Amino acid sequence: MKRSLFTAFALSMGLTLLAAGAPALAEAEPVPPLALRGIMQDLGRHMQTVTLGISREDWTLVEKTAPLIAQHPQPPLMEKTLILAFVGTDMGKYKSHDHKTHAAAHALAQAAKNKDGVAAIAAFQSVQTGCYGCHQEFRKPFVEHFYGTR
Ligand code: HEC
Repeated sequence: MKRSLFTAFALSMGLTLLAAGAPALAEAEPVPPLALRGIMQDLGRHMQTVTLGISREDWTLVEKTAPLIAQHPQPPLMEKTLILAFVGTDMGKYKSHDHKTHAAAHALAQAAKNKDGVAAIAAFQSVQTGCYGCHQEFRKPFVEHFYGTR
């Protein structure tokens, strides 16, 4: 599995470098963090902002922040290809976690728009359940696969 990733990675790097006309990189370069990790860190921050908004009953803040969770940026195409290759036959499950999270974030925005605190809290819990579901199932093997650690 590691070897096939390395092959895919080396191939894509090779193509990129060829296209850029740059010299080949040394094979022992440490793996740089995926763009996905930065996207996830932003999601974590948005969740904190929502918590703050709920505590303050600042529904405008919650309404403004929820779409940032629902419509988070995607990793660049090359990285997405590697992620999809890794997820493989579990694609349905991976996408379903993502979809649940997005749907809950939309519900959160709507509840905040209605200034409905109880609905907002319920939707927030569903968002967290979505994040947690994917992390439980995919994060560890993902980190092992892409970084070879933990
Ligand atoms: C469809 C799968 C999926 C969903 C849904 C998901 N994550 Fe993640 N998350 C991941 C994966 C995979 C990683 C590991 C990424 C890495 O280490 O490069 C991760 C890592 C993280 C990290 C750790 C980043 C770091 O610095 O190591 C945070 C924080 C995070 N996610 C927050 C969230 C939040 C908040 C949500 C929900 C709003 C969420 N994630 C939803 C897959 C998911």
